[in-house]
Order: sequence, then C-alpha cells, then structure tokens
Amino acid sequence: MSTAAPTVPKPIQSDALVFFGATGDLAYKKIFPSLQAMVKRGHLTVPVIGVAKAGWNLDQLKVRAKDSLEKHGGGVDPAAWEKLSALLRYVDGDYSDDATFTAVRKELGSAQHPAHYLAIPPSLFEKVIEQLVKSGSAKGARIVVEKPFGHDLISAQELNQVLLSAFHESDIFRIDHYLAKGPVQNMVSFRFSNSFLEPLWNRDYIESVQITMSENFGIQGRGAFYDQNGAIRDVIENHVFQLMCNLAMESPARSDSESIRDEKVKVLKAIAPLVASNLVRGQFTGYHDEKGVDPHSTVETYATMRLEINSWRWDGVPFYIRAGKNLPVTCTEVIARMRRPPQTGLSGPSQQNYMRFRIAPEMTIALAVSVTSPDSESRRSLVELEACRHPKPEDVEAYERVLTEAMAGDATLFARQDYVEEAWRIVDPVLKSNTPVYPYTPDTWGPTEVPEEILKNVTPPGGWVTPISDVVEDFTVIE
Ligand code: BG6
Repeated sequence: MSTAAPTVPKPIQSDALVFFGATGDLAYKKIFPSLQAMVKRGHLTVPVIGVAKAGWNLDQLKVRAKDSLEKHGGGVDPAAWEKLSALLRYVDGDYSDDATFTAVRKELGSAQHPAHYLAIPPSLFEKVIEQLVKSGSAKGARIVVEKPFGHDLISAQELNQVLLSAFHESDIFRIDHYLAKGPVQNMVSFRFSNSFLEPLWNRDYIESVQITMSENFGIQGRGAFYDQNGAIRDVIENHVFQLMCNLAMESPARSDSESIRDEKVKVLKAIAPLVASNLVRGQFTGYHDEKGVDPHSTVETYATMRLEINSWRWDGVPFYIRAGKNLPVTCTEVIARMRRPPQTGLSGPSQQNYMRFRIAPEMTIALAVSVTSPDSESRRSLVELEACRHPKPEDVEAYERVLTEAMAGDATLFARQDYVEEAWRIVDPVLKSNTPVYPYTPDTWGPTEVPEEILKNVTPPGGWVTPISDVVEDFTVIE
C-alpha cells in the first residue's frame, strides 16, 4: 500500500479561462477543438475570453473557431457549439495597452480564479504578466505557459522569476502536451503495474535504449518560430526527455504530482551535459526557402544524440535519441534492446529481445521474442507479441487534457521549474558551441555525410530500428 500524501486542500476550479493569442495558429489547431471537447464532456461551463490584436470582433472569432472545429476538431457539434458560443468572449487590443487589460478584467465579471493561458511568443510573457498584475487579473489566478520554456538555462531562470513575481509555483503550469498523451502515461503505468518487467528493467538486462520522434512533414509555415528554436529546443529537451524520464524513473513513493515530478527530475540530474562528439545536427535541403527562415540559418531540423544516465539502475546503458522533420514516416517510438542471450548449441543463435513502446500514430506495447522459425526448425526468428490501440474519436486529446487539468489545478502533467532547468543544463552548452549542421534529403533518415568517428557515437549497437509504418500482424517475423 502506498503512503498517503499529507492532506492538502483540493485545488480550486478555475472560474474563467483567458487565452492570449486567440487568433493564432495554436488556438486554431488545438485550443478551439479542445474547448469544444471540454464542453461536450461537461468540463467547461465558465466564460472563455480570447485576447489578441487582430482588429477582430467576437463574431469574427466565432467564425474562426467554427472553421477550426471543421478542420481540426472533427467537425462542429451543434449542441456543444451552442454552449461554447455562449461562453466565448473576445478582447481585441495591444498587450502594451492598459485598456486591453481593463477590458479583460471587465469580461471576467465576478470570476475570482481565472486561468490565463499564454499561447503567445515568450517574448511577450513579461509584458502580459505585468499587465495582468496591474489590472488586478493576476490575483487568485493560474498561469499556463507554452513550451519551450525559455531559450536556454539563463532565460528559463529569468522567465521563471517573471512568473514567480506574480504567481505562486503551484499556480504556474508549464505545458508539455506530450505528458498528456495517453500512450505516454501508459508507459509509466505499464512499467509499474507488471511484475515481470521490473527485474529486467535495468543495466543487467538492457543493452541500449533508442527513442525516435520522426515526422514526415516539414515546418508547416512555422518558419519564424522554428528558426528561433530548432529540433532540440522544439521537441527533444521537452517531449523526448519526458519519454526518457518515463522509461528511466524509479517508482514514486506516492501518487501525488510532486512525488511523481521528483522522480523525473532525479533522472535528468543523473545525466551529464551533452558533448559535441555525441551529437549530430542535420538540416533538410530546402529549409532556407521556407517563409520566415534566415537564408543562412544553421538551425537543425534533425538531431541525434547519445546520453547516459549515471544512476544505479542505468549506469553504462546508452540512451540514443533522434528527432526530425521531413523524415520518411511520422512515428514516435521507444525501443529498449535487451542483451544477447547465451548462444547454446541447442537453441541455435538467437536475436536480441527488445521492448517497444509506440506513442504515435497508434499506441503499441510490444515484446520481441525469439521463436523457432516457421520455415526451419533449426532457425530462430524474432516476432513481436504486441498490444496495440488506435486512437478513437472519443479519446481525450492531449490539449484537452492539459487545459482541463490546469483549470482543475492538478500539476502532474506539467513541467516543474527544476525539471525545466535540468533539461536546459543538459543541452545548453552544446547548443551554444556551434556544432556543424549536415544537410539531408527530405524523406531520408537524416544526414549521411557525417564523419565516421561521430556517427558511431550516435548509432545504437545493432543499429536503429526503423519504425514499421503498418501495424504488425500477430506472429509476423521481424528479422
Ligand atoms: C510540438 C512541436 O510541440 O509538437 C511541433 O512544436 C511538433 O514541431 C509537435 O510537430 C508534435 O506533437 P504532436 O502531438 O502533434 O505529435
């Protein structure tokens, strides 16, 4: 039985949602669909105030919201839309203008505990927070911010100071929507609710771990954002590190948010800063032609690296990461490859077992085992025993979950400041050391012209497992 956490009062439910950046891309692709889903589930009954500087009125925002639901929210649900439409408000104005925030406060009406969601560039955070304080809208409120949190360790610390000047840490919600994905959460529950796994899940049995986050599309018109960030800041130091922590963390003593987040931070603390010889950065050809991209940009659209977790459990087990845009498939997948079994005369040569967690496009948990080959009794083949689940329309989407939990005040699915700082500590030095960026052709698995002495450092023993694009049928031979 787990030790109960000390009793803490149940967090207050936010009584309004204010989202800055209401006319932007994130609102269009993720926020409106999440709002409709929350209304449908009965999780959103409070005013929702969109804020932006676009010269729009509420009717125009509603048109945009409906369009977003058509394109990204599985369609407009008439009953839910009617309710959402009645909750929606809009404030148009500059974030430097006091009048904008007076109008926000007015729209908040009697709300005492709003959640302010900053779906805007981090360069505007300070200004918005100052104005929230000045207008009295920060009192009793929560603040929800998008990733990446800062640009490096120093800026993350500075940004945190800005947030802490107006909000208590327990009211700050740093989004990493990967944490809210069902298959990502499932990695943890699978690890800690199956007794067969734990004895194997360590340096004695696992030879290496590889994590692939590949996307078969480019930067989709987000050049101005992407060119300030690159793959390491955009997805590795946040999304992929979260996967790594879920794989590597110890079982938390309690199930409260802080006990879980403590264990994740410990994983990062055990990782030394990344060195240049364990990193390859790549850029797809044609990147410079993208709108918003500096024609001389050396920002990476692909990166692969090797890290080691210097803990009792993982010492000596290399963790390989690769992530990139314009790769052959869209897939996020983890492979933990086991050490080779003894090669006895009786069984013949066996391949290495591995455990596979697929996060996207569908959830898969698979164990690759060696069996007698269907076509020769003297041969062994590797097959996967797998459990697979495809996303369903009724599933809770990551952004819906994030917004619901932030409004309910549950911080489990958000990054804590010490975690964010540890993540930057690992990648910061190498991000500033101007390592080479190698070109790669779209639709390939990254650069090929990398010096051999570096390539070998970032390639798992036995090689990368190429994500299989279709679901593997039962008893399909892998090798
Ligand atoms: C975002 C990144 O955080 O995550 C994008 O900015 C990336 O570049 C996206 O494509 C991937 O998340 P998902 O949930 O769409 O797979």
